[in-house]
Amino acid sequence: MDWTIDNMPSMRGMTAIVTGANSGIGWEAAKVLAARHARVILAVRSVERGAAAKNRILAEAPQADVAVMRIDLADLPSVQAFADEVMERERKVNLLVNNAGVMAPSYQRTKQGLELQFGTNHIGHFALTLRLLPALCKGRGARVVTVSSMAHTMAKALDIPYLCGDGRYRRFASYAQSKLANLLFAYELQRRVQSRGLALQSIAAHPGFAATSLLDNGMFAKSTWVRPFARWVNRFAQPSEMGALPTLYAATHPDLVGGEYIGPVGGMRGYPGIVRSSDASYDVDAAKRLWDLSLELANIRPDDWIALADTM
Ligand SMILES: NC(=O)c1ccc[n+]([C@@H]2O[C@H](COP(=O)([O-])OP(=O)(O)OC[C@H]3O[C@@H](n4cnc5c(N)ncnc54)[C@H](OP(=O)(O)O)[C@@H]3O)[C@@H](O)[C@H]2O)c1
Repeated sequence: MDWTIDNMPSMRGMTAIVTGANSGIGWEAAKVLAARHARVILAVRSVERGAAAKNRILAEAPQADVAVMRIDLADLPSVQAFADEVMERERKVNLLVNNAGVMAPSYQRTKQGLELQFGTNHIGHFALTLRLLPALCKGRGARVVTVSSMAHTMAKALDIPYLCGDGRYRRFASYAQSKLANLLFAYELQRRVQSRGLALQSIAAHPGFAATSLLDNGMFAKSTWVRPFARWVNRFAQPSEMGALPTLYAATHPDLVGGEYIGPVGGMRGYPGIVRSSDASYDVDAAKRLWDLSLELANIRPDDWIALADTM
């Protein structure tokens, strides 16, 4: 049977955080979670765009409990400040959706000097997840959903020298590496929480090919012909509400145990189910190396992660 939002359980009493929730797949997912009675925090880098997104949700679900909080995933102090504020304001978090992303922009760096896609798509979310662990662990049936992409298959293996900026930059190669990193992280997090007996599940998802503003904001940003071109490309994509289904399935399906990858069973489009990612994404040694590198780049000491985990 095709899985749709009608199969979702009630989220009443649950708190969800969705990064990049002001547009595209993040907004669609946030809207449905809010309509299912979750308290939803829109984690956005522009409070103005976040407020507009909140109003669009309230227009469809007037009773929704939605808050807007600022985070710039390309700036680690901003990630830390966001996590600190969440820990102060919320008793617990039941769901973190690591959704925000940027695809194939011209070469740019995060505030801390990392290549923008690796820094935003992976390192920002890695830091956010670890910093939120104490709140996540207080949340009943807590889950972390990390949004990857079919583009991860373009990266045949994790290339750490490349990620550390060895001088080359290829837009799509970097996007693919960042999306492979999303998967390696999601699976490694699951192994680590499981080995510590923590009540948290880490699940990966991908939307297939969905009509969003990802093209406008990344590869073709600032180009005058981008909008008509993006509109033309998006004619071949599934609607963004379909693109959000794998995320929502990963966030709520009761049969999942952690460590799964959810995507359209048809590949680029269609209804969600458990799918397989590339062989490279299941490379446990690469995942450990990425974890250690990420701790270093996110400025989190190994002991800190264990301490964070032990507060759970
Ligand atoms: N659409 C697809 O076909 C497709 C396919 C595979 C994977 N994905 C993945 O799906 C996820 C969502 O993308 P989308 O397609 O929905 O594109 P989108 O509409 O462009 O959404 C991306 C979101 O990420 C936010 N973001 C970017 N950089 C950020 C930062 N430094 N800090 C905080 N937020 C930031 C954007 O905020 P602003 O509005 O402020 O820029 C926007 O809200 C991404 O991880 C993407 O890789 C999408």
